[in-house]
Amino acid sequence: MLDSGQTIVAEPNNQGVPATLIKNPFLHYFKKHKRSFFAGIFSLIGTNLTDALPPLLIGYSIDQITRGESIDSIALTLAALIVATAFLAWFRYLWRVYWGRFNHSVAEDLRNHIYDKYTDLGPTFFSKTSVGELMSLINNDVNLFRMAIGPGVLVLLDSVIVLCIIPPLMISISPDWTWKSLILIPLIPFVVRSLMTKIREGYKKQQDRFAELSGVSQEIVSGIRVIKSYAQEDNQTALYNKISKRYQFSSDHVAKLDSLFAPTMELGVTTGSVILLVVGAPEVMSGAVSVGAFFAFYQYIQRMIWPMEAIGLGVNFIQKGRGSFDRIRELLQTESDVPDEGQIPLKTFQSLEFEQVTFTYPGADAPALKNLSFQLNRGETLGIVGAIGSGKSTLIELLCRQYQISEGKIKINGLPIENYKREDLMNLFSVVPQDAFLFSRKLKDNIAFGDRQWSFSQVEGAVRYVNFEDEVEKIPDGYDAVLGEKGVNLSGGQKQRLTMARAIIRQSDFLILDDSLSAVDAETEKKILEEMNAQEHSSKTAIIISHRLASLRKATNTLVLKNGELEDFGNHHQLLKSSSTYQSLYSLQTEVSQ
Ligand SMILES: Nc1ncnc2c1ncn2[C@@H]1O[C@H](COP(=O)(O)OP(=O)(O)OP(=O)(O)O)[C@@H](O)[C@H]1O
Ligand SMILES: [Mg+2]
Repeated sequence: MLDSGQTIVAEPNNQGVPATLIKNPFLHYFKKHKRSFFAGIFSLIGTNLTDALPPLLIGYSIDQITRGESIDSIALTLAALIVATAFLAWFRYLWRVYWGRFNHSVAEDLRNHIYDKYTDLGPTFFSKTSVGELMSLINNDVNLFRMAIGPGVLVLLDSVIVLCIIPPLMISISPDWTWKSLILIPLIPFVVRSLMTKIREGYKKQQDRFAELSGVSQEIVSGIRVIKSYAQEDNQTALYNKISKRYQFSSDHVAKLDSLFAPTMELGVTTGSVILLVVGAPEVMSGAVSVGAFFAFYQYIQRMIWPMEAIGLGVNFIQKGRGSFDRIRELLQTESDVPDEGQIPLKTFQSLEFEQVTFTYPGADAPALKNLSFQLNRGETLGIVGAIGSGKSTLIELLCRQYQISEGKIKINGLPIENYKREDLMNLFSVVPQDAFLFSRKLKDNIAFGDRQWSFSQVEGAVRYVNFEDEVEKIPDGYDAVLGEKGVNLSGGQKQRLTMARAIIRQSDFLILDDSLSAVDAETEKKILEEMNAQEHSSKTAIIISHRLASLRKATNTLVLKNGELEDFGNHHQLLKSSSTYQSLYSLQTEVSQ
């Protein structure tokens, strides 16, 4: 990139998805980030131990006051209280730091795995899944899993720790009061379990609906021009409202189940406090138990509210997170239909052969290419013509290994392309796809796209090559203008030429233009072709798909496709004699130009 503003250098995360992550994500991350995880737990134990001291100390000081002890001894108890509170604050700070570090590292790791998967999967996967769903997975689901492994696990651990500390202290004051006031506690796990399953199911449904809603929103926003030009605003709004309503119903259902948790828990504990007042008050009045001890006990019952709620809360977070991880797991286990397993390096191009290649798109009835065979050697230019939908772009897709071919072989330098590393294969070609795509980045960064450092003069050279230099002058900010959504909008032809400049700057020996000249005016096209055929580029190989035969006049050979089959193959003069498709295209185009 030309910009040097980037300071964070992130390592690519290409190690694949560990089996332990798929099997048990919680355990996997506890182990992977054990330092912050255990430091978080120790600070949490410290917090709870120091948090148990104030009721005891305050109760003790109440008794000291009622006994009329000296100010000095009361001050000593209060000093101990201040020290305990200071430690409590310190431990609280620590667990927040460690636990935050832990769960944010988990989210980062998971996002990277998902992102890697997105870059690994081919067009077959993306044609089946909406962008909204993919966005929801990497943002929403990752966040819910983070909430489960972070706050979810934390509150559960916290309640276990509190349950280990507080009841023994209560028993030390009065075993009788303890069992009576906590009698309803054993019922809680049953309530939790019955709600748990329902929440999980409801939540999965809510997430599916959310993904559906994001998909539709994304589509409506990106297709807003088409919607408006067909005056379909009302219909699309009705569709959006319907899906939004469905999401609202499912959220409402989950909210109702969620709301049952806290009141149920509190009911149990409040009952405990009432029981304490009934059984404890007479003993305090008779003097069998001190007021301070009664005060401490009452405080401990209040402390028991939290773990009871926390169990519900934690289980809830964990259920939601598990639902989200089920969806993430499904993605991470999706196998790429074009595995990148080739080992042989590929540096130079000598020859390309298609040998009886037949290919059917996944889910399609008829093959897009049938029994296609041809050869292209280094230094040659291959033209491809054919009607709309005759399989021209498909041929390029297969050459770039976007799909796996089922029959036949595509060979480069005599070896099937599957044998090469995909990265090497793609570095061999400079492809200008049919659909120009520009990123919402600076104009110069759109051209200098890739991991190599391009000099500014190289960018200018590529722009000159595609005859775009005059347009750059007219754009405010020129090479620094930000394109796309929040920036400068370019015409179809301008976009096409910039994507061409992006391919040209790579200076590879093999240029592929998929109908890229279609959005360019005839003069610019002529200029580009002249540049391509100029002396310095003549040793380079090219595939040019074009509907205009004039662009292919100088091609070594042109391949004529008809319904996915090779109709003819030869140079301009040969095809004029032998190919009926070529002939009719030629006469049509010469008529038009006359
Ligand atoms: N992703 C896809 N899934 C299923 N079928 C597809 C897919 N892409 C293309 N096809 C089909 O394959 C056939 C060949 O398409 P292709 O895009 O290769 O045509 P083309 O010759 O490049 O057409 P054009 O001149 O319009 O660019 C068409 O019938 C098309 O409907
Ligand atoms: Mg095409």
